[in-house]
Amino acid sequence: MADDLPLRLRESLEHADFTYDAVAGLLGTRAHDALGRNETTPALRRTQDGSPLATLTRLFLLQTPVPAEDAERALPGLVDALARRGFLRRDGDQVRALLDIRPYAADDAHLWVASDLTPGLDGAPVSVAAYHVLGISPAATSLAQLTLREPVGRALDLGTGCGVQALHLATHCDVVVATDINARAVWAAEFNAALNDAPNIEVRTGWFFDPVRDETFDLITTNPPFVISAAQGSRLVYRDSGLPGDEVVEHIVRRGPAHLTDGGWLQVLANWVIHRDVPWDERLAGWVPDGCSALVVQREVLDPAAYVELWLKDEGRHGGPDYLDRYDAWLGWFDQQGVEGIGFGWVNVHRSEHDSTYLDWPYAVEQPVAPAIRDWAAAATHPVSEHDRLRLRVDVVQETTGEPGAEDPETIVLRQRRGLCRARQVDTVEAALAGACDGDLSVGQILDAVATLTERDPAELRVAYLPVVRELLVEGFLQPSSRVPEAAP
Ligand SMILES: C[S@@+](CC[C@H](N)C(=O)[O-])C[C@H]1O[C@@H](n2cnc3c(N)ncnc32)[C@H](O)[C@@H]1O
Repeated sequence: MADDLPLRLRESLEHADFTYDAVAGLLGTRAHDALGRNETTPALRRTQDGSPLATLTRLFLLQTPVPAEDAERALPGLVDALARRGFLRRDGDQVRALLDIRPYAADDAHLWVASDLTPGLDGAPVSVAAYHVLGISPAATSLAQLTLREPVGRALDLGTGCGVQALHLATHCDVVVATDINARAVWAAEFNAALNDAPNIEVRTGWFFDPVRDETFDLITTNPPFVISAAQGSRLVYRDSGLPGDEVVEHIVRRGPAHLTDGGWLQVLANWVIHRDVPWDERLAGWVPDGCSALVVQREVLDPAAYVELWLKDEGRHGGPDYLDRYDAWLGWFDQQGVEGIGFGWVNVHRSEHDSTYLDWPYAVEQPVAPAIRDWAAAATHPVSEHDRLRLRVDVVQETTGEPGAEDPETIVLRQRRGLCRARQVDTVEAALAGACDGDLSVGQILDAVATLTERDPAELRVAYLPVVRELLVEGFLQPSSRVPEAAP
């Protein structure tokens, strides 16, 4: 007999209006923000009316026991069924949640996601089981915003966890295969696919690409277990791959493209080691297979000590009896390996041969950032000649700095206000060139005019600045003039 629990649960959640917006409205900004800091008190004060929405919020988000009669009213006829399936437990006349079910707003849709409970609410000791199934984390949201959302045929969500990426992919891909090594995650992802009526998600169990051995995909997304350590001893499967160092990311970047169709994309949220005396970008470039191009954005660099602290706290070791020993051993291993820092960022591999970009960009970007990734690929495949008619992107502004009252600025910077929000210091020729790119004059005509203005040799200027024009195009400051410009925000 078909399992009708997900459908019945969905009906109850819909009926209670248990949506992201309704919960945010019920809690108000302060209680919502406090919950974001894992503090429940302000939210408990705002959820006392016994309504189904308040009851579901208390039960699942605040992990608070609720009267059984309130639970029955919020989940009519489902409390015992959910208890049998491990979601709830009856304690006398109270009901408590053993798993998390929370609303999630994605791509204008209301979704619900079941996962393990968030550990460490209200300062409780963080205790995470080896096979913990992560809920919606900031990393998950970050990958969702990076993921290209054009409609495609087949997508793979590698290391699906609760299935949040697969649920997004299911909205714009015909078929989504989601894989995980953790049987509990496979169960959660299957449940969530049913709960959200996404029959195009197929969940499989296995080690990275093993379950999709001979298959190809138009899009592969993954937020893998990327925590970098010696990989000895116990392991939290959601974050530790069992492979030492950053081998897990190397494996995915080296092997993933073989599972891409021509023109397909592999998008990875990643950590990587930065070795002393080895430029980080050269190391990562060595992983990208022939026939592919990469846009890698290093968003943050942590020093090894800060990194160790972050992940020891994540597993609740801070202040524990073995904290100092573990800290020392992990840091000692980093030292031994010659690790100078740990990079965090986005690896986008395009199965198409064109220029790659390795960008150190820790500054704010426009979210979702996915359109900027697509634009980069379009620009990187666009050859530039003096006959091209280019246009300055409408969101680009010019900033100048210098001595007050000085005739000429000391520095000129072009800055984007959309997409990757890149900035580039330019000289006066580049600034004049960029400013004159309105889509009417060709690059050659503009360079000749700038040569006349600056009394430079036109032929020399073309040789010197055509490569610069290409850089400005690939970096997104200029666009082919056929593109419809978007309005600045
Ligand atoms: C950081 S979680 C990401 C979960 C989810 N995709 C997200 O974006 O939040 C990493 C996931 O990879 C899974 N995983 C760990 N090792 C794996 C392996 N060798 N093969 C496949 N999946 C693995 C974990 O069980 C976990 O669900």
